Amino acid sequence: MSFFTSFFKKNQVDIDKNNLPRHIAIIMDGNGRWAKKRGLPRNAGHREGSNALKNIVVFSDKIGIKYLTVYAFSTENWKRPKSEVDALMGLLLEYLKNAERELHGKNIRIRVIGDVNGLPEDIKKEIARVDKLTAKNTGLSLNIALNYGSRNEIVNAVKSLCVDVKNGRLSVKDIDEDSIAGRLYTFDMPDPDLIIRTSGEKRISNFLLWQSAYTEFWFTDVLWPDFKDNHLIEAIKEYQSRHRRFGGA
Ligand code: FPP
Repeated sequence: MSFFTSFFKKNQVDIDKNNLPRHIAIIMDGNGRWAKKRGLPRNAGHREGSNALKNIVVFSDKIGIKYLTVYAFSTENWKRPKSEVDALMGLLLEYLKNAERELHGKNIRIRVIGDVNGLPEDIKKEIARVDKLTAKNTGLSLNIALNYGSRNEIVNAVKSLCVDVKNGRLSVKDIDEDSIAGRLYTFDMPDPDLIIRTSGEKRISNFLLWQSAYTEFWFTDVLWPDFKDNHLIEAIKEYQSRHRRFGGA
């Protein structure tokens, strides 16, 4: 019995392992409400959210998901109170620091997508270290979207195209969808097959706009800190029950 067959059986994971989404993206929403419900400060919700993420990353890798992209901090999140921004940055730093022990040993690759230059120095340094450390890992690729905004990502791709046209490296008639896709942070990844948003909100919030042209969406009322393996299984099962047509009949 292969590792996957026995893992799926032992854990009663009744999903079709031959039809797994290759790339899952998650909008991890509801940390604040989770904390409020318990009379705790918002930052306690973010901490519990970070724990939920640790679990889902390892579980996704175990069941054979190849790419997991999580929305950790958007270009709009700077508008939050400084104390909350600082707490989120602190959690991110801690997450990256623990990644060597908790994820690198599991063959998980960690990358950050977003405007890294706009982040604090200590985080930038840690991102570069973890990126290099895990670059050759062949298990799950975890992409942490940090200081990420999809419109901004597309604007940068267009600027880069303009520079290439101006310098004569590219002619206008050769610009196609691949010329844009190849200039996004996700240039070497498949588009997400499934996007999950927790906490009952049903918005895309400037996340992977180009990449989600044919993505399946799954929404749940579960608040992110409460999101567990069984919720991911539920999302994958629903995904597997859908018929993806990519615009065809
Ligand atoms: C949304 O909850 C969540 C965020 C803005 C950030 C997501 C961050 C984490 C899961 C923790 C840290 C991440 C890492 C990678 C260590 P919200 O605050 O908008 O919740 P609310 O809508 O209930 O107020």
